[in-house]
Amino acid sequence: MSKRYLITSALPYANGPLHIGHLAGAYLPADIYVRYLRSMGEDVVFICGSDEHGAAITIRAKKDGVEPQEIVDRYNTLIKETFEKVGVSFDIYHRTSSQLHHETAQEFFRDLHGKEEFIKQTAEQYYDEEANQFLADRYITGTCPKCNHEEAYGDQCENCGSTLSPTELIKPVSKLSGNTPVLKETTHWYLPLDKYEDWLRPWIEEGELDGKRHHRPKEWKPHVLGQCKSWLDGGLQPRAMTRDLTWGVDVPQEIEGSEGKKLYVWLDAPIGYISATRQWAEENGKDWKPYWQDEETKLVHFIGKDNIVFHCVIFPVILKANGNYILPDNVPANQFLNLEGRKISTSKNWAIWVHEFIEDFKGQPEFIDILRYYMIKVMPETRDSEFTWKGFQEANNSELVGTFANFINRVVVLTQKYYEGVIPEINSELIINCSSEEGKTSSFHAELNAIKIHLDRIGEFVHKYDFRSALKEVMNLADLGNKLLQFNAPWSLIKTDEEKTKVVMNIAVQVVEALRVAIEPFLPGTSERMSELLNLPQVENNSFKSMLAKLEKREFLIPVGHQINKPIHLFTKLKDEWVDEQIRKLEESQNKEIVFTPIKEEATFDEFQKMDIRTGTILTAEKVKKAKKLLKLTVDIGLEERTVVSGIAEFFKPEDIVGKEVLLLANLAPRKIRGVESEGMILMAENEKGELAFVSPQSGFGNGFTVR
Ligand code: 2FM
Ligand code: ZN
Repeated sequence: MSKRYLITSALPYANGPLHIGHLAGAYLPADIYVRYLRSMGEDVVFICGSDEHGAAITIRAKKDGVEPQEIVDRYNTLIKETFEKVGVSFDIYHRTSSQLHHETAQEFFRDLHGKEEFIKQTAEQYYDEEANQFLADRYITGTCPKCNHEEAYGDQCENCGSTLSPTELIKPVSKLSGNTPVLKETTHWYLPLDKYEDWLRPWIEEGELDGKRHHRPKEWKPHVLGQCKSWLDGGLQPRAMTRDLTWGVDVPQEIEGSEGKKLYVWLDAPIGYISATRQWAEENGKDWKPYWQDEETKLVHFIGKDNIVFHCVIFPVILKANGNYILPDNVPANQFLNLEGRKISTSKNWAIWVHEFIEDFKGQPEFIDILRYYMIKVMPETRDSEFTWKGFQEANNSELVGTFANFINRVVVLTQKYYEGVIPEINSELIINCSSEEGKTSSFHAELNAIKIHLDRIGEFVHKYDFRSALKEVMNLADLGNKLLQFNAPWSLIKTDEEKTKVVMNIAVQVVEALRVAIEPFLPGTSERMSELLNLPQVENNSFKSMLAKLEKREFLIPVGHQINKPIHLFTKLKDEWVDEQIRKLEESQNKEIVFTPIKEEATFDEFQKMDIRTGTILTAEKVKKAKKLLKLTVDIGLEERTVVSGIAEFFKPEDIVGKEVLLLANLAPRKIRGVESEGMILMAENEKGELAFVSPQSGFGNGFTVR
């Protein structure tokens, strides 16, 4: 057992909102782990915050034409709120733009610099001559030398997962100007990763550090160990820890050559875990040091698989080189979550954005927990996995409604019906039917023991970072409850044996209570609603632990005589049409490649001159009877009024377009449309979705003038 825990989740870049892939990767698993530890009475601090430096931020700022500060302020707020609303229970959500963080990161740099851990090297780096600046790795794209993917970044290929350096890219292109960058000399401080291989390899592969057992490598996920080994086997290289940038943490001023140099974001970001802990300690009257510097602290980093090398190699090297810090006990990285058969993609908008999900289902609090439930069920713990709306519906309908809520509802309804909601007193010696096997007998004590076996297993799975199995074990407990009812049939038993019925119903209530506590790390909102239902205070620090202690002593979890409340619907079924609607929304919102219609055949100037296009104003507009698409308009074109029939009724309401200034093709041969003579055509633009927009002169320009 560890004396205390420090749990971190990857600091998200504050350059965009969170999608479900983020949540399933680094945040939900950490939250379950932390909530379970709290409920077991452990000393645990849960750390996160925004990663506000690095090229990701500056690229976004450039794209939006605003300052980086504006971007990080906007997304820090949005992300923080999103985490709160989905119940991710950080003890602090900090920011790497804070003063304290800048100081902490600089202290680290200063310390390593003083210990001569860095080597100062001049090397050639890509430079954009048009933008007059050196290019951060993320600012350069090109063809991956390993898999030929054409959009690899300077530091990584997202297609094959290889870590790259910009000079390895084939056909490099600057993202700033689109030009081919040139190589130019610049001086930086490098961390010679190769120098640390002597301890890194045995630490990662054998779990041995300084001659002592540190962790059990078997407890690390195979894909995490695999990535680390391939890094080690590939030969570690010195890595630059500074950059030529304008946004980030300054290299401490007193260091020679620091001008214009910032810390590499992957040096500064993980130190963000430490500055966040310091901030938390300051705000809570605690000492941060034991959490980072005492051997009896268990440090666990929850991350996505694209962050493995930074947390398993580079950050540990930085910590060890400093010398005062502990190293992570585990880095249980998750793989990627796909969506409806495709990779989640921010640029193509193929994603479920968490803040939008929250907004879509606000007023229906159970939806957050359905999302959490389904994401845990398909969590990409050891391999990539898949989110589908059909799967979401099935998980809700058959498991949350069918197994979980159904059991709880039956217990509450029957307890109200037979005992007016008061937990009945029992003779614990009576023999009843066993919940695990039809035809076997059991007793109150034996059933309490069966509950405890499930609860112990939940803990074992959580400690193995196997949250899917842990949640399954909670559902097995609900299953036990259903079988208890099924095999004892209290609704019939009550007619022949009231005393035995009391035993069955009392156990059933104890199972509901065990579920309320056991589900809390996974579905905190559901646990909260169950607390109201059972008329009990919410689950708090130590609840799980004291529940286990009671079961050990074969004591009631809810005492005899306790009054519970009236039944409520914890979850309700989702219809097939609901699923169709979600899929439709997803498909409609994606950014499709726009296919432009080709340019028409050449027209002569004279041909164009034949068109008489006039400025005008719509005076009246009305629907044409029995024609869904048509509006009848009168248009003032200065010298006269024209009647025009226009196919725009699907996009514009008559009352909204009266007064609109428009362009009218005035010498088009008149045509009868639905019995109305149309004397001209309003000019409209049509986009790839078939949406229409008016082409208008500047407002107030006047009617009757020609367009040429
Ligand atoms: O990949 C990312 O989103 C990074 N911002 C994660 C940083 S984790 C930590 F080191 F701060
Ligand atoms: Zn590749």
